[in-house]
Amino acid sequence: MILKIERLDHHGRGIAHSDGKIVFVENALEGESIRVEFTKVTSKYIEARVVDYIEKSNKRTKSKCPIYEECGGCHLRHMSYEDTLSFKRKKLREIMNKYAGVDTEIDIIESPEKRYYRNKIELKVKDGIVGFYKKGTHDIVEMDRCFNAHEAINALLLNMNLFHLKNAEVTIKCNYNSELLIIISTDEKPDIEIEKLREKHKIVGIILNGKTLFGTDNFIELMDTFFFKESYNSFFQVNRSVNKILFDIVKSSIDENDTVLDLCCGVGTLGIVASTKAKEVFGIEIVENAIKDALINARMNKRDNIKFVLGDAFTKIEHVKKKINTIIIDPPRSGISEKGIKNILNVSPQKIIYIACDPITLARDLKILKSKYDIKSIMGLDMFPYTYHCESITVLERK
Ligand SMILES: C[S@@+](CC[C@H](N)C(=O)[O-])C[C@H]1O[C@@H](n2cnc3c(N)ncnc32)[C@H](O)[C@@H]1O
Repeated sequence: MILKIERLDHHGRGIAHSDGKIVFVENALEGESIRVEFTKVTSKYIEARVVDYIEKSNKRTKSKCPIYEECGGCHLRHMSYEDTLSFKRKKLREIMNKYAGVDTEIDIIESPEKRYYRNKIELKVKDGIVGFYKKGTHDIVEMDRCFNAHEAINALLLNMNLFHLKNAEVTIKCNYNSELLIIISTDEKPDIEIEKLREKHKIVGIILNGKTLFGTDNFIELMDTFFFKESYNSFFQVNRSVNKILFDIVKSSIDENDTVLDLCCGVGTLGIVASTKAKEVFGIEIVENAIKDALINARMNKRDNIKFVLGDAFTKIEHVKKKINTIIIDPPRSGISEKGIKNILNVSPQKIIYIACDPITLARDLKILKSKYDIKSIMGLDMFPYTYHCESITVLERK
């Protein structure tokens, strides 16, 4: 069947129609005529894969990644980088319009590093094959190099055989100094050749099923002029160069007299940055290791005007006694809970700085917040180049 692609959806898939049903086609661009094969047919939609291109868009580029077409890690490598940014600008604008009722142009700050930008990858090992999931499946696409991953991670990928894993999940984290933390979940008792691995790579820790098998369970990350202890299960932004830009925007949005609440603070990064300008900062985070890291990070960066508390940020706000005039919030993909929104509105800070990795939940939350707040700015940040994902930072001011 030959389909004409009408436009792209927010996952970068081509949209066409067949017999009145919407059809999603991966690796398709607007205007292209494509011979497709249906891979999934439901009562509401159809998914299809490209058999061949009858008429290609002149905007199509050829990805240099040999496994791009199969691999589920990237979605937009058949576009130029500039076109991926246009796609994200349009996507953010459409989502804000549809879910928040806000119509505004949204600029995207590009990633200074377009390749090898990720300091963390999550691999699957199935029957001894190491790789990522294939697009839309739980099959593995074998891989020994990823265009997104830091070069120190790519170097390790060439020696994954030394882990002797058959079925496992492996996360590899890398810091500014190319040191590696390796986190393995498996039912097996692997006979890992640690010394051979250490001869070739700066491995500081191997954590097997939550227990430290070798070295330590954390490392130090350097961002801008700040040092951060990062435990193996603490969150850290994956793209260092864009995280630095985020730091600069947060810092420029803070005033000297601000008393700041940093909700979902992770290892304390944004709160610590804010504390270099603000009067006082309080951070709340739900992961115990992350909050322990945050306490150490405050000391390591010589910040004595910041305190951290363990707990559910969305309910713990109720117990904050200080008069807060600025909230920084960087929630997980699910956004702010209903209770969280209610509590934030009760605290009624003058300013809210909302960092989001999911524009749909951001828009949902802005729709409520905008009854009491004006949106001063919304900016996209290309934290995840060549994927459909987009980070953003929104600054709100009380009406
Ligand atoms: C997107 S990360 C942001 C972390 C940090 N602001 C940063 O930039 O590195 C979201 C963080 O929220 C934490 N989190 C998730 N749900 C939470 C909750 N209900 N209360 C507090 N923290 C939560 C996660 O553990 C994670 O550290």
